[in-house]
Amino acid sequence: MFDLDAFDAHEDVLFVARPEVGLRAIIAIHDTTLGPAMGGIRMWRYPNAEAAATDALRLSRTMTMKNALAGLAFGGGKSVIMGDARADKSPALLDAFADAIERLGGRYVGAEDVGIGLEDVRRLRQRTAHVSGVGADGQGGDPSPWTARGVFAGLKAAVRAAFGRDDLAGLVVGVQGLGAVGFKLCAHLHRAGCRLVVADLDPERSDAAHAAFGATVSGTDAILVEPVDVLAPCALGGVLDAATIAAMQAKVVAGAANNPLAREADAEALAARGVLYVPDYVLNAGGVIAAAMEHAGTMDELALRRRVDGIEGTVADILARAEREDITPLAAADRQALAMLARGQPRRHAA
Ligand code: NAI
Repeated sequence: MFDLDAFDAHEDVLFVARPEVGLRAIIAIHDTTLGPAMGGIRMWRYPNAEAAATDALRLSRTMTMKNALAGLAFGGGKSVIMGDARADKSPALLDAFADAIERLGGRYVGAEDVGIGLEDVRRLRQRTAHVSGVGADGQGGDPSPWTARGVFAGLKAAVRAAFGRDDLAGLVVGVQGLGAVGFKLCAHLHRAGCRLVVADLDPERSDAAHAAFGATVSGTDAILVEPVDVLAPCALGGVLDAATIAAMQAKVVAGAANNPLAREADAEALAARGVLYVPDYVLNAGGVIAAAMEHAGTMDELALRRRVDGIEGTVADILARAEREDITPLAAADRQALAMLARGQPRRHAA
């Protein structure tokens, strides 16, 4: 395990096995310089332990960067439960996993992710205080409205940098994936006067976007190469590879999907084609900002809105740094986050 490429001097990696309840899980704590390691709990059918460990290692490192740039006093962590969320999840499995989180004494704080929903997080919360996103007093819980709001804020900064304009009216935006985040992003874009081209595997969702926003419906792969100004990947990761990058027409890529690039080197390929790629982990931090405020007991809707809208300034700073240092925005975001870790201070945010 120490030889895995994704290993990046993580502070702790915990392997949890409770065969009596079918639990096999990995909790990766990447860096706690800025605070307890916060990151989602993913349940997925990994082919083997190595694939699961690689995912936990990679995603926890991304959380360190994401939380630092989002101005949160949290470090980066992530956990993965090996199994099929539909078939293998049980109350006993969740309870055993909650106990594993609890034993870490708060060094890791979990939240929902792929395969782990609000009800699951609420169940974990019965045995450990170290999970967030459970919602309190009818507030919070679903991070997707905040994620969508943050992507919209960051997209505005990218449009300013790429096209020199503040007004989004008439801008053509392609949105791949109309789920919890993608559909809400469309609503923001529509309100700002953008023209939308959309695609989802589920035709009902595309039809709903057509009805609600007058969106033009495209195909799930075709959307990547449509003649749009901005492409917002909001479905799964790995959609931008050498072939799609060569054929795409958008000048900006700014979406919610985690790891939309097939390989990290594709950030260079996009830059070489003159496409401004805004790193996923900077744009999609709205949800974790909400979870962090909830966990710190400082949830206040107005403050949260301001913090999430601050993603616009963060993106502007990163794009300016990329330009200044002649590096990709992804490299600039990494440098900025690493500098914050070295200083022991997350990005400052508006009070
Ligand atoms: P979701 O599961 O609600 O929606 C995903 C949508 O994409 C579904 O409607 C699905 O049918 C569609 N889809 C899947 N493959 C597709 C394809 N090839 N082409 C077109 N559509 C496709 O997921 P959610 O919550 O909206 O998240 C979207 C992305 O944003 C994911 O990558 C997620 O990891 C990321 N993200 C979400 C956050 C949140 O707050 N929900 C926070 C940070 C990142």
